[in-house]
Amino acid sequence: MDNVESKTAIVTGAGAGIGYHITEDLLRKGAKKVAILDLPVERCYNATVTLQEKFGKERVIFFPIDVTNLEAYNETFKQVIKAFNGLDILVNNAGICNDRCFEQTFAVNVIAVIRGSLLALDYMGKHKGGKGGTIVNVASMAGLGPFCTCPVYCSSKYAVVGFGSSLEVIYR
Ligand SMILES: NC(=O)c1ccc[n+]([C@@H]2O[C@H](COP(=O)([O-])OP(=O)(O)OC[C@H]3O[C@@H](n4cnc5c(N)ncnc54)[C@H](O)[C@@H]3O)[C@@H](O)[C@H]2O)c1
Repeated sequence: MDNVESKTAIVTGAGAGIGYHITEDLLRKGAKKVAILDLPVERCYNATVTLQEKFGKERVIFFPIDVTNLEAYNETFKQVIKAFNGLDILVNNAGICNDRCFEQTFAVNVIAVIRGSLLALDYMGKHKGGKGGTIVNVASMAGLGPFCTCPVYCSSKYAVVGFGSSLEVIYR
């Protein structure tokens, strides 16, 4: 992601893995502040402290939250906007691959992505009087073709691709 200088961002699932590296990249490229939305586990607190030590305490805030708790997600979204005095970027990154828990897979990979995107559109959307912004949905190659070992994960990522590409056409 380029042109992030002085921008504010939310990255879900940023307490580890790809989301952590996206957050690090945003901060390295000059993003003003990044909110990490991830589960309340030690790993996420530690990741936040590491990024704060590297980029400045005031630039990284951890909001311990399960994004499948939609009420809590709504509330946290408002808190981030208040704390950052606005929002420019949402990265829907949190995702799981566990086909035995198909409901949870869809709750995290699809429902939370749609919820977050709608919240971001409500706040940032020019059609709602906002100043515009960027929504990034982390999908997968499994959203573009069969992934026979994990059909549930695969179908959840197809949903992400379908949702994101449709929004792109509507709001570009
Ligand atoms: N790792 C891969 O090879 C790969 C490939 C393609 C796409 N992806 C996608 O990239 C994204 C990140 O994957 P990763 O490999 O970094 O995974 P990861 O497991 O390392 O990190 C995922 C993060 O999401 C968080 N998370 C999970 N459920 C959550 C919930 N309910 N609420 C809040 N946070 C939650 C976890 O705590 C974790 O910090 C996912 O959407 C995944 O599907 C990963």
